[in-house]
Amino acid sequence: MSKVIYVLNGPNLNLLGKRQPEIYGYETLSDIQAKLEDKATKAGFVIEFFQSNHEGAIIDKIHEARDKAQGIIINPAAFTHTSVAILDALNTFESPVIEVHISNVHKRESFRHHSYVSLRAEGVIAGLGTQGYIAALDYFINVN
Ligand code: DQA
Repeated sequence: MSKVIYVLNGPNLNLLGKRQPEIYGYETLSDIQAKLEDKATKAGFVIEFFQSNHEGAIIDKIHEARDKAQGIIINPAAFTHTSVAILDALNTFESPVIEVHISNVHKRESFRHHSYVSLRAEGVIAGLGTQGYIAALDYFINVN
């Protein structure tokens, strides 16, 4: 059976490519999805790709992943720095979690330096641009 990886994206990431391109670049979320799906298919993996601007919708998707996914790649966006609820949801998920940030949050405002999700994540990738998502998928492919 194919391994299923949930790729979850938080608020404002639907505007990727248009939103502050000097920080986040010109690639869109659909571009990232296409690259991940291509790589996953070749490796015998299945990607469930999801974005929401709503905290509860992301939490519901994490709950869904509990029965369906062998791993989660999550860019919680601004919820990274605020959401105990997303941390709690991830703590109910028993397989690995990789946290991804397109920008290097540690080079930015101090409120971006703390991540609730990092308390749960096996690994954190920040500052590699959209390649961070590919690196996270590589981790799941190579570890299995
Ligand atoms: C982000 C960094 C967060 O601080 C910010 O709120 C985002 C995107 C990133 O991918 O670099 O929306 O998660």
